[in-house]
Amino acid sequence: MKLENKIALITGAGSGIGKAIALEMGSAGAHIAVNDLTAETAETTAHQIEDLGREALVIPADVADSEQVENMVQQTLNRFGRIDILVNNAGVYIPQDGGVTAITDEAWQRILDVNLNGPFYCSRAVVKDMIARKQGGKIINISSVQAEVAHFDASAYQPSKAAVVMLTRTLAVELAPYKINVNAIGPGAIASEGMGASLGPEVIEAYRKRIPWGARGYTRDIGTVAVFLASEDARYITGQNIYVDGGYLSDSTPTELKSQDHPVPPDDPDPK
Ligand SMILES: NC(=O)c1ccc[n+]([C@@H]2O[C@H](COP(=O)([O-])OP(=O)(O)OC[C@H]3O[C@@H](n4cnc5c(N)ncnc54)[C@H](O)[C@@H]3O)[C@@H](O)[C@H]2O)c1
Repeated sequence: MKLENKIALITGAGSGIGKAIALEMGSAGAHIAVNDLTAETAETTAHQIEDLGREALVIPADVADSEQVENMVQQTLNRFGRIDILVNNAGVYIPQDGGVTAITDEAWQRILDVNLNGPFYCSRAVVKDMIARKQGGKIINISSVQAEVAHFDASAYQPSKAAVVMLTRTLAVELAPYKINVNAIGPGAIASEGMGASLGPEVIEAYRKRIPWGARGYTRDIGTVAVFLASEDARYITGQNIYVDGGYLSDSTPTELKSQDHPVPPDDPDPK
């Protein structure tokens, strides 16, 4: 088991990608501190972790609030004595119909607070303990393909994710002397609760045609990469942003041409 007896704190682990990362890390032997905005959201994940035979701690906190973050980290340290792995997964995607002129100060601020300040607050709090313990550590940030390419009506989300990529590099360089690996995973279109709830079937089908793999990814596809990055197999990888996107960022073929010359592959079954 690649993460046997490791302690992982995972933010936004009550649903979607964060939950899948928690379950994959639990299956790999880690005990999990499950954060989400409310205890109710985090509890289902925690029960599933316990069913795997691991320990789980439910910690409700808003990662956008530095005081709550300091508390969350202290509670995890009180319970487990250390944190080996931090996954900064919690994020918000608030579509801004009407584009840049329609986005309010509050929406802009909230997206930056959760998506960028959150990973910074959590990393700062966790790293203090990692440095003091001198046992190294792993930080994994969840970015997005939208850190690289723009999309309609997401003018706050995209800068927030691009900044997460640079935060990853900055922390990787600064924390390398302490043997703390800092990497990011950039998901493409992943069929999470969040994405599933906000996209209609026509939009999902349009994405499917745009993605070379011919299908959206599943949350487990991110979970397995997170386990790899948290393991000693990834010992010498730091400062990287690994895209898990079915080839989305590599493809500039217009969808119309693609459907003539390259048939769209069939959808994949969920590997769960
Ligand atoms: N699903 C995708 O296609 C996709 C693509 C690229 C990047 N991402 C990123 O992956 C991450 C997870 O997204 P998801 O698709 O699983 O979404 P999701 O909405 O299914 O899950 C996000 C979880 O984070 C929690 N959360 C939100 N704000 C929080 C806060 N301030 N403090 C603590 N918890 C909070 C939510 O309650 C929820 O349980 C996000 O950072 C998102 O930007 C997702």
